Amino acid sequence: MSMHIGTIKMSLQLRPCFLLAALLVAGACFAQEIEYKGFRVCTKCHDAQGDAWRNTGHARAFDSLRPNAKADAKTKAKLDPARDYTQDKNCVGCHVTGFGAPGGYQVGMDADAAKSLAGVGCESCHGAGGKYRDVHGAGGDKLKTTFETTDRKVLVEAKQNFDYEKACSKCHLNYEGSKWPDARAPYSPFSPSIDPKYQFEFDKAVRAEGKVTGTHTHYKLRGVFKGDSLPPLRIELQKNAKEAEE
Ligand code: HEC
Ligand code: HEC
Ligand code: HEC
Ligand code: HEC
Repeated sequence: MSMHIGTIKMSLQLRPCFLLAALLVAGACFAQEIEYKGFRVCTKCHDAQGDAWRNTGHARAFDSLRPNAKADAKTKAKLDPARDYTQDKNCVGCHVTGFGAPGGYQVGMDADAAKSLAGVGCESCHGAGGKYRDVHGAGGDKLKTTFETTDRKVLVEAKQNFDYEKACSKCHLNYEGSKWPDARAPYSPFSPSIDPKYQFEFDKAVRAEGKVTGTHTHYKLRGVFKGDSLPPLRIELQKNAKEAEE
């Protein structure tokens, strides 16, 4: 008798429990983050941008964390030039791709996988490519076979990033005393108070004016994707873009 009551009680307690579990699982599925893939996935199809990117400081950003690299700059920023900062969580985040995110760089990860994620790679600016890279391939095929373009909104849905200023700010405006509202630790030690040359101006930097080569050289797009979320910057940069050799 008492056992019977016990069973009833238990099943009553279990029901809301199952419901909660089901909701949690559903929630986790919806919130699933898109994975980082590393630059090699992108350069398979975007060879020209890949070659240009390799010549930028971004591609080599991880090397700056090695002992004795950029020693003068480190000394000026009160860092120890002889120290190895490549495993330091206060540094790595801005010198790699997708730090701590699914598919992204992690301290102590497999050395081979790390090669495609060390440095500020394609996805640091264009967003985690786990979904949109397939959309690119499909769009390219569609233009080739049916001469039809694809609406750019599918790229936005696949979480390709077009807000470049926001992407740059996460690394370049994240220092102590920054006016950028989202600034928080770990901060970049290379703030304008160390040297005014570290002052970041998006409009200038994104056009790589002066001696800096912030982003890669731009190559002409064929126009596989059409429609919104095209940043005005794209139109401007495409005017002077180079023809890619195929
Ligand atoms: C299977 C081949 C393929 C892969 C892999 C690929 N892309 Fe693309 N991508 C394309 C094609 C094709 C286009 C359309 C090019 C055109 O319009 O001339 C494109 C377009 C783009 C555009 C412009 C999109 C627009 O708004 O018109 C960007 C930026 C880009 N790719 C970045 C990347 C990045 C970053 C990666 C890696 C995560 C990547 N691509 C992976 C083939 C690919
Ligand atoms: C994930 C962090 C990160 C993002 C995102 C990022 N940068 Fe950088 N950037 C760096 C780091 C780190 C360096 C220093 C590289 C080095 O010397 O080690 C750098 C260097 C530069 C330089 C100096 C020139 C050079 O080639 O060394 C320019 C200009 C620049 N970035 C512009 C930009 C622009 C524009 C954007 C956005 C479109 C951007 N960066 C996005 C981290 C980032
Ligand atoms: C919040 C992002 C961020 C963090 C954290 C960060 N950096 Fe950087 N780092 C940058 C950016 C952005 C630049 C490029 C600054 C520029 O050229 O305007 C840079 C540049 C550098 C440079 C090159 C400076 C030069 O003048 O050539 C070195 C070396 C460096 N970082 C080392 C480190 C070390 C060591 C740490 C940890 C103690 C660290 N960084 C943490 C973002 C960061
Ligand atoms: C520091 C940020 C940054 C990094 C890193 C970066 N890009 Fe870009 N990329 C841009 C910006 C800014 C544009 C110009 C705006 C636009 O066209 O949407 C652009 C444009 C493009 C385009 C459009 C055509 C062109 O050449 O302008 C493609 C394709 C592209 N990037 C691919 C890549 C690939 C592949 C990589 C890695 C090898 C990469 N990008 C790395 C910022 C970056």
